[in-house]
This record gives sequence, structure tokens and C-alpha cells, in this order.
Amino acid sequence: MNKLINENHMLNIGVIGVGSMGRNHARVLAELPYVNLAAVADIDTTALYKVARTYRARPYTDYRDMLDEEPLDVVSLVVPTALHYPIAKEIIERGIHVFVEKPFTLRVEEGKELIAAAAQKNVKLGVGHIERFNPAVVELKRRLEHAQLGRVYQIHARRVGPFPPRVDDVGVILDLATHELDIMEYITGSSVSSLYAETERKIHASHEDLLLGVLKFENGTVGVLDINWLTPTKIRELALLGERGMFLVNYLTQDFYFYENAFTNGQWEGLTAIMGVSEGRRIKYEIKRREPLRVELEDFVNCVLHGGRPAVTGEEALRAVFLAEKMIQSGETGQVIHLLNGERRP
Ligand SMILES: NC(=O)c1ccc[n+]([C@@H]2O[C@H](COP(=O)([O-])OP(=O)(O)OC[C@H]3O[C@@H](n4cnc5c(N)ncnc54)[C@H](O)[C@@H]3O)[C@@H](O)[C@H]2O)c1
Repeated sequence: MNKLINENHMLNIGVIGVGSMGRNHARVLAELPYVNLAAVADIDTTALYKVARTYRARPYTDYRDMLDEEPLDVVSLVVPTALHYPIAKEIIERGIHVFVEKPFTLRVEEGKELIAAAAQKNVKLGVGHIERFNPAVVELKRRLEHAQLGRVYQIHARRVGPFPPRVDDVGVILDLATHELDIMEYITGSSVSSLYAETERKIHASHEDLLLGVLKFENGTVGVLDINWLTPTKIRELALLGERGMFLVNYLTQDFYFYENAFTNGQWEGLTAIMGVSEGRRIKYEIKRREPLRVELEDFVNCVLHGGRPAVTGEEALRAVFLAEKMIQSGETGQVIHLLNGERRP
């Protein structure tokens, strides 16, 4: 463990990229116990000085100067996706723990290299799949593990909204669908076995901005991805349909509902089959709301301070990049892609 961590029990952390997401990293890190937000770096001087002033962190217009001059234990990397790989590589090579925003990298090969480099340098590598820390998703997973829904027939994610013009390096699959690809395998506990994508590019200069995807999981569940940057209102919803009803999560409000199938409770299987599905109670679960970014960064800080694995490792985040690559390929070729045995989730 780093000498500074042992002596002061404080982590010196730097943030690279303090744009729309990175400034939230800076805010949350500045509030966390055992963390000293020492420095921030950005090429946009307006954003840089504003964040540096607000949180009393030293500003750097060149992140390399920050890495040279500051004795950092951890860097949070929140630059555009295309820069994750080259900058994370430099951070790791200097023996600094790194937290990389999602999507992990542009390409699978880049992610593999970072994982190997982090292992070689013995530094922690965490990736910001923030929805894993959404309290409504945590509760959803808990209830699924207790088989409350019975067999899960379908999982449907809707993540739509207006186009953010700052995203010019990737399409909607890498930028948004990676959230859902990660969550779907995580909460079903099952691996995607085949997938198909219809994609469109309507307003983005170079990449797809609409995805309709169909996934099949090894356990038989069917997944649907409805994702675009063409909708004039922001919707982030996950619905799971199963034997006993439907779970519905609103990622934004952290509302979590169970729409109960009225005739399944306490009935034997044969009777359920005859009576089919009918509308039962709608139950809204009490969720203790928390800011997912805070829970996520707390997890990484704890893992650096006390040891252990980050909740979302490089390997797990690589899986979402891999599935996104396959989605893009399916969208381009019009082909259904069947994953090989070796391509299933580890
Ligand atoms: N987890 C989430 O829900 C979530 C939400 C938004 C964005 N993100 C991810 O965060 C990353 C950043 O997205 P954003 O929306 O904040 O983008 P943004 O464009 O608002 O911010 C990126 C910042 O990086 C800075 N930057 C660019 N090149 C740099 C360099 N060489 N050195 C230092 N700074 C540099 C830019 O000036 C800008 O301030 C992306 O990978 C995105 O996918 C994740």
C-alpha cells in the first residue's frame, strides 16, 4: 500500500476531465471522508478553474503535469471515451490506482491491455457502471435473487432522451446501451447467447443515434433494448416481466414498482396455467434514495484504502464493451450474432 495512505489514512485524489460528469466526481470526492481532492485537470480552462476554485483543488491544464507534480494515490478519469485508453495507460504506468468512467474503452483490445497493465503494476482499476449502485437496482436484484418474480420471461430497457452534442466520439450503443448491457447480465445472472440490432443515424455526424436491440440469454430470458438520442424527453426505465408479474424501475427517480399477477399467489401450477395473467395490486417499494455516484466512488475509495475488489472490475466492464461491439456489428451487417462458448460471460 502507498506510504501516504498508511501515514495519514487520507487518499490524495485527482480528477482528469471536469466537464458535465467530471465536475460531479470532483464534488462527490471533495465530500468523501478519507479523501483529499488534491488536484483537477482539464484543457477547458473555464471548467477547470471553476471546479478548482469551488473545491480548493490545484488546477492543471495538462494532466501530465498533474501526474508529475502531485503525489496522487487515485485518479478519476472522466474525459471523452476515446481518451480513456491512452490516459488510463499513463496513469497505470505511474503506479496510480484509476477509476475510469464508463464505457471502459472504445475497443475490447484496449480494455484488455489496461487490465493487464493494472495487474502488472498492482493498481486497482474500477469502472463507472453507475446503475449497479442505484438503490432501486440493488433492491431489484435482491428481490430477483429471492425469486419473487418466478421465471423471468423478458427484460426491457428504455434509455432515451435528447442528443447531447458534446458526444462526438461514440454512438448511442457505446455511450448508453453499455449501461443496460451491463445491468441486464448482472441482474439476470445470465449470459447473453445471441443478439440482433437495428440501428439508425439521424442527427449524429458519424455514429448511430438509435438502437433497437434484441438479446437472448442462456437462461431463456429475452432482452429488449430501446435506446436513442432522438426523444425530446429523458426516460430511463427497466421492466422485467416474469411468472408472477412485472417489476418496473425508474432509474432517474429510483422508483420501484411490482405489478402483481393476481392469480399466481398461492395457486398451484396447473391452475395458474388455466387462469393466465390478470391485473393485480401495484406495489411501490420504499427505497432509501442515495446518489449512485457517491456510493460508487465510496466503493472505490474503500477498496483502495482497505483492499478488495472494486464492485465493477475492468474484466466486468470489458464485457459491456464486447457486447456493444457485437451490437454495432449486428447493426452494420443486419445479422443475428450467436456468441460462441468462449464468448459467454466468464
Ligand atoms: N456514468 C454515467 O452515467 C456517465 C454520465 C455522463 C458521462 N459519462 C462518461 O464520462 C465521460 C465524460 O463525459 P462528459 O459527459 O462529462 O463529457 P464532457 O465533454 O462534458 O466532459 C469531458 C471533459 O474532458 C475534458 N478533456 C478533453 N480532453 C482532455 C484532455 N486531454 N485532458 C484533460 N481534459 C480533457 C473536456 O475539456 C471536458 O471538460 C465519458 O466517457 C462518458 O461516457 C458517464
